[in-house]
Parts: sequence; structure tokens; C-alpha cells
Amino acid sequence: MNILVVGATGTLGRQIVRRALQEGHQVRCLVRSLTKATFLREWGAELSPGNLCYPETLLPALEGMDVVIDAATARPTDAIGIREVDWQGKVSLIQAMVQTGVKRLIFFSILGCERYPQVPLMSVKAATEAFLAESGLDYTILAPAGFYQGLIGQFAIPILEEQSVWLTGTSAAVAYMDTQDIAWLALRSLEVPTTIGQKLPVVGPRAWTSEEIIALCERLSGKTAKVLRVPLGVLTTTRQILRGFQWTWNMADRLAFAALLARGEILDADMTPVYQQLGVSPTEITTLEDYLAEYFARILQKLKERHYELDRQKRQEAQKRQRRRPFKASAKSGS
Ligand SMILES: NC(=O)c1ccc[n+]([C@@H]2O[C@H](COP(=O)([O-])OP(=O)(O)OC[C@H]3O[C@@H](n4cnc5c(N)ncnc54)[C@H](OP(=O)(O)O)[C@@H]3O)[C@@H](O)[C@H]2O)c1
Repeated sequence: MNILVVGATGTLGRQIVRRALQEGHQVRCLVRSLTKATFLREWGAELSPGNLCYPETLLPALEGMDVVIDAATARPTDAIGIREVDWQGKVSLIQAMVQTGVKRLIFFSILGCERYPQVPLMSVKAATEAFLAESGLDYTILAPAGFYQGLIGQFAIPILEEQSVWLTGTSAAVAYMDTQDIAWLALRSLEVPTTIGQKLPVVGPRAWTSEEIIALCERLSGKTAKVLRVPLGVLTTTRQILRGFQWTWNMADRLAFAALLARGEILDADMTPVYQQLGVSPTEITTLEDYLAEYFARILQKLKERHYELDRQKRQEAQKRQRRRPFKASAKSGS
């Protein structure tokens, strides 16, 4: 298949590109920066410069494509926000697909977005789902709750580096999933026509609270986490302050999401029907225990090698100093 991946440089998007290439598909990526996307070209993908906010760039990217997989979302660090990228940008993409006759779309939403209209990104995702339903496209909506990859920066690295881990209120239980598995399920759904017009959850084997993830990281790293709790009120006030500034809207949206998680919600779903429909065995899905065990084993091995190398360099320096001493001593005695 000829697949256009939007958001290909992102955490999930790059896994979709990699998996699609491994499966033998022709992959084109709509990218904002050719330089930043060099690695995708090296993997074997074609790059098409473009931006969801510039509709005229979408038509050439869609030319000759059978399928679009859209894993783009506004970056919290960008000046443009969720409304421009996740709403207007996605409407432009859907309209461009209708115009060019590329009918098949995999769209990434968020699990349970329809239940939280007070969270801007959730409400935009729900609105896009409704827009898609009227579009006439052959779409499938995949709804993750969170990614294992995000837990590395949030928990694993701070615990390893003995930095503080920030928690707010009662932590939500979230059924995170490995983006490699999500990419695999996305490509599987292209092979299964009954997924057309459906919304499927894509969540991991179980929901984890932040406290449980911290305990798991502590066990695997052999370190004790320094946990700092921020009251929910502080987070809410910060969000209101941030709302006043256009350039931080995106960050304010993210904080709204964090505030939701701090209320102890459960983001989980039964994956049994999805696995049956896609012909996938649940035993093939990576557990968080396995994912983090592999991560810590790799990092701890690297740290061990680095310490060994530093020790070796210190020993060599000491030996060099030792060798220089007799020369200096004899030079002194000769004078
Ligand atoms: N992360 C999560 O925990 C989570 C949970 C549930 C659902 N999701 C959904 O899963 C999808 C993938 O999320 P992610 O975390 O992998 O995203 P990400 O890492 O933040 O990557 C975002 C991608 O979107 C691209 N992008 C941003 N603005 C764009 C624009 N104006 N035009 C074209 N491309 C643009 C970025 O390109 P640049 O590299 O140029 O910035 C990047 O490739 C999203 O739909 C997200 O809403 C994510």
C-alpha cells in the first residue's frame, strides 16, 4: 500500500513509519522540517514538505496515496496550538482527502475524549470524530490512553538521576501502551475491513497509577524515588494564569489534561474484542513490566560500562603519574 503518515517525526508516528516499511509498504511522510526528518528518509520513507496549517501543502502529499495514517498533534512548545493543528489542520486534511479521493484514514484520538469536554484537546478530538463520521471517508479511529515512552521522562529518568518526581492529587490509573504495539495494531486495522467506521481503544494490558509505576521503577533501578506532591488547586490556578497568554494556550490545555488525571480517573478499556477483530493474541502485547525492565537493564548496563571506563582511565592516569615520579626524583638528585 502507499501510505501517507502525518506526524511521522512524533513518538508514535515514527513507529508507524518503521513498522509500515518493515511490512513492505511504500511510505510518504508529511513533514514540517526536512532536516528534522532526515532519519525517516534514511529508513526508506519519502518526505513531502508540508504543514497541516497550510492546506495547499496537503494536496501534493496525498497524490497517489491509498491510505493516510494521522498521528499528528500540536507540540506543547509550538506557538500554534491545538485549535489550529488538531482542529483546523485536521479538517483541512479530511477535506483534502475528500477532494483527492484518498478514502482510507486511520485517525488517532484519545480514549474517552467524549466524556471530558472541559479538556480542550479532548473536546477537539471528539469534534474531529464527529466531523469524520460525516465525511464519507473510510476511517478508523484508534483511541490510546497514553504511551509507555512518555513514562521514561516522567518517572524513569528522574528516579535514576535522583531528581524529584512530581505528583498531583490522587493519580489516575491509565492503561498505557507501547507505541510499537499501537503502530502494529494500526497497520493490522488496515487489513481488516470491519474496522471501517469504527472507534477502537488501543490500551495496554492493565491500568497503572503513578504510585504503582514509581514502585516498579524503584524495584527495577534499585533507587528510591523523591516524590513531591503538588496540590490540585495550585495546578488549577496556574492553568487560569496561563490562559491569559496566547502563546501559552497549548501549555494551558496540557495542564487541563493533567488536572483531569489528578482527579483519579481511570483510563482503561476491554481490548478482548479488538484483539479478536484484528486477529492478534494479547500475549504478543508488551507489558509495562517488560518494557521498563528492558529499559533499565539497558541503561544500567551503559552506566556500568561508563563507570568501568572512568575507572580504567583513572587507573591509567595513576600509572602514568607513577612512571613520571622516578624520573623527577633522579633529575632532582642529579642537580
Ligand atoms: N502522547 C500520548 O500519551 C497520547 C495519548 C493519547 C492519544 N495520543 C494521540 O496520538 C497521536 C500521536 O501523539 P504523539 O505523542 O506521538 O505526538 P508527538 O510526539 O507530540 O508528535 C506530534 C507530531 O505532529 C507533528 N505536527 C505538529 N504540528 C504539525 C503541523 N502543524 N503540521 C504537520 N505536522 C505537525 C509533529 O511534527 P514536528 O516534529 O515537526 O513537530 C510531530 O511529528 C496524537 O494524535 C495524539 O493526540 C497521544
